[in-house]
Amino acid sequence: MKALFSGVVGVLTIFLSAFSAQADTISYTCDTVGIQLKLCNEVAASFKAKTGHEVKIVSMPKTATEILSLYQQILAAGADDIDVFKIDVIWPGVLANHMIDLTPHMKGLEKEHFKPIVDNNTVDGKLVGMPFYTDAGVLYYRKDLLQKHGESAPETWADLERIAAKIQKAERDAGNKEMWGFVWQGRAYEGLTCDAIEWVISNDGGSVVAPNGKITINNAKAIKAIDQAAKWIGTISPEGVLNYAEEDARGVFQGGNAVFMRNWPYAWSLSQSDDSVIKEKVGVSPLPSGAKGGPRAAALGGWQLAVSKYSKNPEVAAEFVRFVTSYENQKHRAIVGSFNPTIAKLYEDKEVLAANPFFGSLLTTFVNASPRPSTVTGSKYPQVSNAFFNSVHRVLSGSQTAAVSLKQLDRELKRMSKGGKSW
Ligand code: GLC
Repeated sequence: MKALFSGVVGVLTIFLSAFSAQADTISYTCDTVGIQLKLCNEVAASFKAKTGHEVKIVSMPKTATEILSLYQQILAAGADDIDVFKIDVIWPGVLANHMIDLTPHMKGLEKEHFKPIVDNNTVDGKLVGMPFYTDAGVLYYRKDLLQKHGESAPETWADLERIAAKIQKAERDAGNKEMWGFVWQGRAYEGLTCDAIEWVISNDGGSVVAPNGKITINNAKAIKAIDQAAKWIGTISPEGVLNYAEEDARGVFQGGNAVFMRNWPYAWSLSQSDDSVIKEKVGVSPLPSGAKGGPRAAALGGWQLAVSKYSKNPEVAAEFVRFVTSYENQKHRAIVGSFNPTIAKLYEDKEVLAANPFFGSLLTTFVNASPRPSTVTGSKYPQVSNAFFNSVHRVLSGSQTAAVSLKQLDRELKRMSKGGKSW
């Protein structure tokens, strides 16, 4: 009887554990920019169909800066509410302590992804995040308007200013009073760090903090670049850009009311959707350089998937990470959402290239994109970036000149790092 009883209990235990293995629920953070939420829901449904596991989607705020502070609150409390975190390319050093090492779970799959991204996601030998998609800043232009006014895509920022002003005026005179020359991300947040680092690097002004830790931002070329951008406000760019994030800029451009836009590749597929008034009227080029023949900088962006070390289901969470970052899902996201894959082979895929011709023509822009100084500044990067975007924002909003603002920034960064020696 006793044997029978323990046998029944044994079978029941096996049954229950098999059942519970099928019925796990994990949660996954999803941002709400563009069509991301739709894609998150889709992938959760296909993971459930394949494995039986439920994925709860937790939607995030719209900007990287707000998302990071939310993550830091959740993780500092050691909360297990979220299993899979989508993390920005600049965060592995900031969040590494809260994440598991994915190496044993990925079974070598990370080797299919771009090595520099895998390296960026590896902190002290631990694979903190699995590459999901990469990003680089690009210039969108209205090819119909450039053609109509006898212009082509600008090579320098001065060209852009001239063409933007000319077409803005001509189009306004012809009746479109809403037309602007250039829209971009000018709110005081991480996106402005990306835009401003592009202005500075394309003027040979360095990347704020050099890879060896030296603070380089207080220099004449950087000052010139940021003063130049400040002149765009109210002339070729609306005052509103001072509060624009990615989607605000896209709203104006996709509404047909801007000649140029700086944005990430995700904006392409949306601009080509059936309800877009600019469908087939858009071109994509590298961002301009400071001087003719000078560097044309694109900030390196992109997102990875990480598993919280507080997760109660790290195995299932890691299985989900493999599923979401897979070749098939990256291909799907590239075709329907123009999210740049992190798997090199997908840049040779005919369907991916047909949906996104610029993935091929701008391949060098993607491969050579400029990183923000997150590796050298490690866990202090968010502070560095905050100080930088606030400093740039003061210049854009006219409260300081770049010379004054960057000098102040230089002092702040020195205080943070013992003069650039200890990050
Ligand atoms: C994009 C980039 C990310 C960057 C953010 C700034 O999402 O992929 O790396 O930090 O924009 O707004």
